[in-house]
Amino acid sequence: MKLHFSLLLLLLLSCSAILCSAALSDPYDPDGNITIRWDILLWTPDGYVATVNITNYQKYRTVQAPGWKLGWTWAHRQVVWASMGARFLNHSDCSRFKGSIPLTCAKQPVAVDLMTDAPYNVQVAGCCKGGLLASRFERTERSTAAFQITVGLDGTTNRTVSMPRNFTLQVPRGGYTCGPTKTVRPTRFITPDGRRVTQALVTWEVVCKYSSYMAQTTPSCCVSLSSSDHKRNVACPPYACGCTKRPCHNDHKCPLVVNWHREAKGGVRVSMTNSNINLNYSDWTLLVNHPSLNHLNYVSHAKYKRLSPNGVVFWGLKDDNQVIRTNSTISWGVGLGGCNGDRWCSPRAIYFNGDQCVIPPRPK
Ligand SMILES: *[C@@H]1O[C@H](CO)[C@@H](O)[C@H](O)[C@H]1NC(C)=O
Ligand SMILES: *[C@@H]1O[C@H](CO)[C@@H](O)[C@H](O)[C@H]1NC(C)=O
Ligand SMILES: *[C@@H]1O[C@H](CO)[C@@H](O)[C@H](O)[C@H]1NC(C)=O
Ligand SMILES: *[C@@H]1O[C@H](CO)[C@@H](O)[C@H](O)[C@H]1NC(C)=O
Ligand SMILES: *[C@@H]1O[C@H](CO)[C@@H](O)[C@H](O)[C@H]1NC(C)=O
Ligand SMILES: *[C@@H]1O[C@H](CO)[C@@H](O)[C@H](O)[C@H]1NC(C)=O
Ligand SMILES: *[C@@H]1O[C@H](CO)[C@@H](O)[C@H](O)[C@H]1NC(C)=O
Repeated sequence: MKLHFSLLLLLLLSCSAILCSAALSDPYDPDGNITIRWDILLWTPDGYVATVNITNYQKYRTVQAPGWKLGWTWAHRQVVWASMGARFLNHSDCSRFKGSIPLTCAKQPVAVDLMTDAPYNVQVAGCCKGGLLASRFERTERSTAAFQITVGLDGTTNRTVSMPRNFTLQVPRGGYTCGPTKTVRPTRFITPDGRRVTQALVTWEVVCKYSSYMAQTTPSCCVSLSSSDHKRNVACPPYACGCTKRPCHNDHKCPLVVNWHREAKGGVRVSMTNSNINLNYSDWTLLVNHPSLNHLNYVSHAKYKRLSPNGVVFWGLKDDNQVIRTNSTISWGVGLGGCNGDRWCSPRAIYFNGDQCVIPPRPK
């Protein structure tokens, strides 16, 4: 992490602004981000009630279990009186209060999502997904989350209220940096029956961007190659996902393995095996970069969208292979338009849920 941070600094110092942003932005999804929107709905005697909306606008990167943690820094000594659809990790010291005690008095509160089985009286619309965020492409309704908070000891008009700052978005494998809080045009809400439009009193927005330089560097998946005639079988590289237990065995240690199985005539069967104990991957995405993907003959048991000439993101079908459960394998097929005489016909890069998988070197 430290090493990568200095690498990032070096990169920032050693090239022009335009080149740098090109080097750091994701070529498959340059505008991809997770946006936090904070809508003040009503004023209270000592503050306001707001809904906080977290939306994953990324095309192939998801947030998996145990989910997001959203932190911020209050400008003054604001408190949270109540929340619905989220809970706070940092309660901090509320001993200066007598009588009604706030939910949290932390200067830097951290909110986390509730699980799907949360009691109805603490839920709000869009909450309680266990912190998971699907990609916007794959399942729009699961790419977004919301919770509601009642804030106290703050201003009670749009002139006196002060915005929370320095947002942090923690996810299991890290990588997000949030920009400044900005005042934007108040959000307009349309009632479910489409008849009425209401408007937030004040809306603030924060954009968080992913950078692999800021993320955990130990890979979490690897790729094995195989073919119907068994002539092109290559296992995941040993230690691909590190060595967690000494002595190291000649094992890849990856919780997820993608098998790229070449059948006759450019047909490929992709299988994904989850050996995480206690983690089901729901709403997975697999981004594949392959020189022959510019011509796709068919895709079976999966949906897809093209992100670049050779880059295609795939995802599973509902009630079929949308979830990869513990100790299970799902698979789907793709027909490539030939391999241009490449005997291995293997992919150049594969990203599972946005994390780059280790691909074995081709044997000589
Ligand atoms: C964040 O994503 C939204 C939706 O795709 C996009 O309109 C916006 O420009 C993005 N913002 C940044 C700073 O990339
Ligand atoms: C809790 O809040 C305190 C004070 O605001 C801060 O110093 C501390 O780092 C926070 N702890 C966590 C786990 O966020
Ligand atoms: C969050 O805002 C986006 C954009 O307006 C909207 O599509 C989404 O439904 C909202 N999410 C929730 C959970 O309300
Ligand atoms: C504050 O709210 C009032 C009344 O809703 C509105 O007229 C005014 O433009 C708002 N001011 C700011 C700075 O948003
Ligand atoms: C928020 O971040 C800014 C710039 O990164 C820093 O100057 C400021 O001290 C931070 N504020 C708080 C309250 O942590
Ligand atoms: C994974 O899915 C199975 C089958 O639906 C379920 O029984 C199990 O509780 C799930 N595990 C986790 C960790 O969510
Ligand atoms: C998964 O497989 C491992 C090894 O085969 C076994 O020890 C473990 O109990 C299995 N877990 C589940 C949830 O089936």
